[in-house]
Amino acid sequence: MEPTIAKKGPYAVDVETGKNYHWCACGRSQNQPFCDGSHKETGFTPVAFAPTETGKAFLCGCKHSNNKPFCDGTHAKLE
Ligand code: FES
Ligand code: FES
Repeated sequence: MEPTIAKKGPYAVDVETGKNYHWCACGRSQNQPFCDGSHKETGFTPVAFAPTETGKAFLCGCKHSNNKPFCDGTHAKLE
């Protein structure tokens, strides 16, 4: 199953070291770019990450990045 494209571009979010985040891999969350449990029955599971720096993170909104949960520019190649 292909993930849903939540947005064809990254979400710039403020993250903090010492916290754990769960990036939405399925694209269905209403709380992008984070998981809200909507992946149920999609076969997708969220990607956990713990930032190494406090500050802005650019998290993939298209869900097709090859470096999840981060945007790697793949969104520019999507139809
Ligand atoms: Fe997905 Fe950029 S938003 S690769
Ligand atoms: Fe998308 Fe959980 S809601 S991975």
